[in-house]
Amino acid sequence: MLLFSSKKDLIGHLTTLKNKSISVGLVPTMGALHKGHLSLVKKAISENEVVVVSIFVNPTQFDNKDDLKKYPVTLDSDLEYLKNISKDLIIFAPPVRELYSNNISSKEYEFDGLDTTMEGKFRSNHFLGVATVVEKLFLIVKPNKAYFGEKDFQQLLIIKKLVEKTKMPIEIIGCPIVREPNGLAMSSRNERLPKELRDQASFIYKTLLAAKALFGMKSATKVMDWVKNKFDSQSVFNLEYINITEQETLNPVKRKHKNKKYRAFIAVYVDGVRLIDNIALN
Ligand code: PAJ
Repeated sequence: MLLFSSKKDLIGHLTTLKNKSISVGLVPTMGALHKGHLSLVKKAISENEVVVVSIFVNPTQFDNKDDLKKYPVTLDSDLEYLKNISKDLIIFAPPVRELYSNNISSKEYEFDGLDTTMEGKFRSNHFLGVATVVEKLFLIVKPNKAYFGEKDFQQLLIIKKLVEKTKMPIEIIGCPIVREPNGLAMSSRNERLPKELRDQASFIYKTLLAAKALFGMKSATKVMDWVKNKFDSQSVFNLEYINITEQETLNPVKRKHKNKKYRAFIAVYVDGVRLIDNIALN
């Protein structure tokens, strides 16, 4: 396994490989790795000759500075974890100045409304920060394919839009959500919850599954109201949003069409920890 903290060194190494027409996959992460991240890395290994995993806690995507401070940094155990999957991985773990120099700020982008709803609405400038760092990583690694989880489905759509708008020749691959045995979507934030609350948080996925069943019979508005009522009756949860949208545009559902895809998105506070999840409805 090769570990780079300097972009110049990484670019030098990758240039030699690319001259031999070797295909490169990139998996961007913020570390604190779990099985969700691992599924992306495994998929990337199966489709590329060389895989780069970046580990970088990106300051510009945190609207809440306290959240940034609390973000777990576990580089040693992350490296150990990755070593067990493959000894051939390339890890890029740069310090902040390596990516931002002295200007820790986001670029402006236009994402055709994808960034103004849900996570974009409740976490101001979050997606500008995500796009800024992902574009930087794409320009350094120049991967053939890059891998993102459907756990952050809105992020996945925005990265696809970024690539479309900047015309970078990179294929964006979406990977399914990996869950705990009780259904809770895996997330580094789950670690902040005591075991009892982690068990209770399976309620989020159970409610999404029930909403999916209901969506076969009821309108999007009725299903969203039903979910809100369910959460109102649970004192441990504080529902931030439930939203049912068209899957690709994130537009609200006016009338259901049988050849369109829909998805439900949810953000919930559990004991001060913010969890997100989503589910395909058809
Ligand atoms: P991070 O939260 O570390 O997630 C890295 C990647 O792992 C993302 O594409 C995310 O969707 C995926 N992922 C996380 N949990 C998952 C799960 N349970 N199942 C499947 N995939 C999962 O997302 C980010 O970092 C950052 O915003 C980043 C893209 C690295 C830019 O800083």
